[in-house]
Amino acid sequence: MYRLARSALFALDPEKAHALTLTSLARTASLNAQLFGRRVPASPRRVMGLDFPNPVGLAAGLDKDGRCVDGLGALGFGFLEIGTVTPHPQPGNPRPRVFRLPEAGALINRLGFNNDGVEALLERLAGRRYRGILGINIGKNATTPLERAADDYLWALERVYPQADYVTVNISSPNTVGLRDLQAGEALEALLADLKAAQQRLADQDGRYVPLAVKVAPDLDAAALQTMADSFRRAGVDAVIATNTTLSRPGVAGHPLAAEQGGLSGASMAAMANEVIAALAGALAGEIPIIGVGGIDSGEAARAKLAAGASLVQMYTGLIYRGPGLVAECARALREPVSPANATTR
Ligand SMILES: Cc1cc2nc3c(=O)[nH]c(=O)nc-3n(C[C@H](O)[C@H](O)[C@H](O)COP(=O)(O)O)c2cc1C
Repeated sequence: MYRLARSALFALDPEKAHALTLTSLARTASLNAQLFGRRVPASPRRVMGLDFPNPVGLAAGLDKDGRCVDGLGALGFGFLEIGTVTPHPQPGNPRPRVFRLPEAGALINRLGFNNDGVEALLERLAGRRYRGILGINIGKNATTPLERAADDYLWALERVYPQADYVTVNISSPNTVGLRDLQAGEALEALLADLKAAQQRLADQDGRYVPLAVKVAPDLDAAALQTMADSFRRAGVDAVIATNTTLSRPGVAGHPLAAEQGGLSGASMAAMANEVIAALAGALAGEIPIIGVGGIDSGEAARAKLAAGASLVQMYTGLIYRGPGLVAECARALREPVSPANATTR
């Protein structure tokens, strides 16, 4: 059934198709709960101190503004991550800025955190019916100088804290100039220290501890991953989300759109994300859970994320190519125990 919808959607510009999909998901939530949500088997996990009904989540970026939380929740996800949201609204980069590479099951995007800002997101969330686990992913505005980035993250954290089950600190988008510099050295240490102090203060104030996850890029070598993992352990980060989109171009050599600027996502980056997850799992030594994301397009690909060391998974691009049935397929595949020995790497 999704094949039909997909050919109609793929006839449209990717951003138009995206807006149309969100609108129709919002209107058909109860039907989707019957068609899709009901088919997702229970597969409970406790991660970051939270109880997930199943380990399959929606990755950030699909619903940046929290417009469709009820409609997406009806698809049966074990958790939803909305955002990236920035303190102030911003338009993002000029269009076109999203490209489909269907031959590789991939997308390239250079959206650049187009979003309505934190306040609009919070207003929308006030009316939600979805009561499942909600992560809110925060970022910095493009106009905020990098040396003031912490101000944006701290302000956003404070505002979203009461509405979030966990908050993700996105320092790995390739489409905001300089953002990835926050993943290393002094800048990372200082940002994490500020955020953890704010989290503690907010937890005392609210009487509720909201875990902090950090989302990382796949374009890091083993040494950089090790150093970053050490910083995460020292700071007491609650989870790591690996990975964001890649600036490299695995599996799309020669494709006419491969040279478009932006981050590549989807099936052709799965193995790369799995390598990063495995390296982080080794470096974190079980102290911090990993949420694995990047190229999941089947139950088998979801199992490979757990085999690499993830405790939960998320998906975005696979949904565009495979449709909402992918959620149940992955949740079913992840019900069986996964051990590194019997899993494939992709
Ligand atoms: C169009 C698009 C927009 C995205 N926007 C965000 C974002 O705002 N924040 C974020 O943390 N990740 C964003 N991502 C990255 C995804 O959350 C995910 O990490 C990445 O796409 C790899 O997973 P996938 O192969 O399942 O898509 C975006 C991805 C795509 C394709």
